Amino acid sequence: MIVKPRIKGFVCITSHPMGCLSSVKEQADLAVSNQVSIVDKPKRVLVIGASTGYGLSSRIASAFSANADTLGVYFERPPKEEKPASAGFYNSMAFNELTKDLSTKHADINGDAFSEECKTAVIEKAKEFGGAFDLVIYSLASPRRTDPKDGKTYRACLKPIGAVYKNKTLDTDKGEIKEVVLEPATPDDIESTQKVMGGDDWMLWTELLLKENLLATGCTNIAYSYIGPEVTQPIYRHGTIGMAKEHLEKTGHSINEIMRDNCEGRAFVSVNKAVVTQASSAIPVVPLYVSLLFKIMHQKGTHEGCIEQIIRLFNDRLYHEKGVVDVDESGRIRLDDWEMDPIVQSEIIDSWGEITSDNLRERTNFDEYQKEFLKLFGFGIDGVDYEKEVDLISPFTAL
Ligand SMILES: NC(=O)c1ccc[n+]([C@@H]2O[C@H](COP(=O)([O-])OP(=O)(O)OC[C@H]3O[C@@H](n4cnc5c(N)ncnc54)[C@H](O)[C@@H]3O)[C@@H](O)[C@H]2O)c1
Repeated sequence: MIVKPRIKGFVCITSHPMGCLSSVKEQADLAVSNQVSIVDKPKRVLVIGASTGYGLSSRIASAFSANADTLGVYFERPPKEEKPASAGFYNSMAFNELTKDLSTKHADINGDAFSEECKTAVIEKAKEFGGAFDLVIYSLASPRRTDPKDGKTYRACLKPIGAVYKNKTLDTDKGEIKEVVLEPATPDDIESTQKVMGGDDWMLWTELLLKENLLATGCTNIAYSYIGPEVTQPIYRHGTIGMAKEHLEKTGHSINEIMRDNCEGRAFVSVNKAVVTQASSAIPVVPLYVSLLFKIMHQKGTHEGCIEQIIRLFNDRLYHEKGVVDVDESGRIRLDDWEMDPIVQSEIIDSWGEITSDNLRERTNFDEYQKEFLKLFGFGIDGVDYEKEVDLISPFTAL
């Protein structure tokens, strides 16, 4: 079948396997050239949310920079005869294709990480896989979660708290600046979002892995968070998602104590920078902010995508000669340090009011944003022949 992008709002409902292979390979090549050089590096890594965005890059860095075994957990749609798989499914196939000749081992579980069935399947796979993990990365971004304790399905939402929020936003389909008006969250919205994106499920995973003796002595357990700029505060950090992130960060302190007491381990929350992922493209205002941020950070020579951030997490924060992990006053790793640089942020504030539909492409890197967005689904990548038929089920067998 010949696969073309079909974009609906902030998602693309098709994906191209050869494009996904090419972009996973590009990340793997960068990871190979940025080896973790210290001896005490991770040997067996569990990545929960391993198929796209930060989790995929974490898996790639684990396999190609640290040369570790990986077990990847994700929730992705497999292909059908005439319907491509989700991008994360092809990314994971691509990861397995690229690691098949390595001496390390890699396994996957495709299922709902919030469910007990999936957790049980991971435990079984982990045991047959070779035992305890010395690095666990929790990188889920999900719109809903069924809590195994009460069987209730909670939905996350992106709403401000306490007041209506109005700001300019970007219609990424049309390339037009519009105004977005968002009604404030109800107490129920706040609680539901915390149930999905807060720390509860990370804690459940940690307790289970400990109970099953699957956390090695000295294990590092890490989850990702975001803070972001002034312009997105009402919708992000001070909104429903921000409350959930605060809960995640607070839970991180409890998990750190549990890790210390039970396996001489440690837990961190890493605050990462804004990048284009399936999760971030769904947040109002963020695509415009990211388009502007790209322009400014390129000019400063500090631009990074997911893989560059995770390479920096490994080489400059977690696994280096100094042995001390730099954290902020709240104990968080700050990979967003270059994004939050006051000079970068003051340029964002100066430019924000001036962006219009007419000057969008000149004042921001919206073209790059769109290219990155298509790339998430394997489209628009140099060297991929999009006119060629692809086998949707086994796309890499002829390679
Ligand atoms: N994108 C950003 O700009 C940004 C910035 C800082 C921090 N973060 C954080 O990084 C983390 C990952 O976000 P991302 O942007 O990489 O997201 P993403 O949408 O690219 O990836 C989400 C991952 O979670 C998996 N997933 C979703 N629901 C699942 C379920 N029920 N069971 C199993 N797997 C499931 C998906 O398969 C995928 O692998 C989040 O905590 C996010 O807040 C993102």
